[in-house]
Amino acid sequence: MADVDFSNRDSFASKFGVIAATAGSAVGLGNIWRFPYVAGESGGGAFVLIYLAFIFIIGVPVMLSEFIIGRKAKQNAYGAFKKLAPGKPWFVIGLMGIVSAFLILTFYSTIAGWTLEYIVQSVSNSFSGKSSQELKASFESFQSGTFRPIMWQVIFMILTAGIVLAGIKDGIEKYTKVLMPLLFVLIIVMCIRAVTLPGASKGLEFLFKPDFSKITWGVVLEALGQAAFSLSIGMGALITYGSYIQKDNNLSSTAIKVSITDTLIAIFAGIMIFPAVFAFNLEPDEGFGLVFIVLPNIFEQMAGGYYFSIVFFILLAVAALTSTISVLEVVVAYFVEELKISRKKATFIGALSITILGIFCTLSFGILNDVKLFGKTMFGLFDYISANILLPLGALLIVLFLGWYLGKEKIKEELSNSGTIKLRFFSVFLFLIKYIAPIAIALIFLNSIGLIQF
Ligand code: TRP
Repeated sequence: MADVDFSNRDSFASKFGVIAATAGSAVGLGNIWRFPYVAGESGGGAFVLIYLAFIFIIGVPVMLSEFIIGRKAKQNAYGAFKKLAPGKPWFVIGLMGIVSAFLILTFYSTIAGWTLEYIVQSVSNSFSGKSSQELKASFESFQSGTFRPIMWQVIFMILTAGIVLAGIKDGIEKYTKVLMPLLFVLIIVMCIRAVTLPGASKGLEFLFKPDFSKITWGVVLEALGQAAFSLSIGMGALITYGSYIQKDNNLSSTAIKVSITDTLIAIFAGIMIFPAVFAFNLEPDEGFGLVFIVLPNIFEQMAGGYYFSIVFFILLAVAALTSTISVLEVVVAYFVEELKISRKKATFIGALSITILGIFCTLSFGILNDVKLFGKTMFGLFDYISANILLPLGALLIVLFLGWYLGKEKIKEELSNSGTIKLRFFSVFLFLIKYIAPIAIALIFLNSIGLIQF
């Protein structure tokens, strides 16, 4: 279909391509690495329940809001606000997004690098015959090293920059379409192995049985941050992707499909991890390394585990890659459209500066482990600030922009593709973005920083 687009911007070729690319952005280490570690540290079941609630009452509406802003403006995350609200300060949201993108990529690329190390370890069969304590020790010795983790991080950033350079249609879309469904299948297979391990039921109980005594405002904020992080909302990544979506795409159904896919994968990742945690006498609050310690244990106990582990870590790396490209794309689209530099130069400058900062995050597990601010390492701090502060704040401002500035008519126009599709839940959506989401986010913020006591 010829898309008459005078600005000559790239766009997604097909409807499935839109879903695949957005799901590719959403599904990543956030689901498989971050969700289990945060759930584990936050006490399990009750956290999961709150997280699920936030996905649907805050996450989906914010995702949809970002699509609307992006497709309407056809601009990068900063330019979009400049265009839709000329002369108004809303563009600050875009600037915040650029900062979040930087922060997220710095620590995300550390973990993404670990996935590459684990591909190599799988191929060289190095989990074989090790006890769970030995697997843990070998992870810790790798993680606290200097050369290898940095090398993998740099390689990962080069891969990310390579795909971003190739552009949207030929780069991002092509890779995600095939590989994401495959990852899903593999996770299901591993879930089956995990829940049939002796002692697995304790893990399922941990994940699904809510113990509300574990809930504090800090945990609620973690759940909100995790929901935002996992859906890739709150920093304009989906504004940027939205700007590449064609006018005949049904935005609401895209947002719902992507959110459900993302959430299912997180939950299945939990079903894969926690039964194994208990079966192998590990602790659920192991922290950042949880998945990398638990997974090799499962492969050890699986028929064909050698092959499964290779394929799994390759797919995990790809899932991470389809996420990192969406984050880097925010920075690159901004550089290209606002600072008027070439795509090549923008990608190079963005990736290089992120990598340099990222090396410090990687070293947070090794020689910089004692360098702490607010009791957190640089890695921990970047993770916390971006997911728990910047993303929820971004999400808050985005729904306020849509609900209180842009106005009902323009939203309706964009959401219904100029009246060609019928909107079934329009008033629910409006109510969520005008009242429920902003009030919920504001309350959580004020409570968790202790400004008000509820
Ligand atoms: N959602 C991705 C994940 O779960 C990470 C990610 C990609 C992201 N783009 C983002 C997070 C934008 C926040 C904002 O791994």
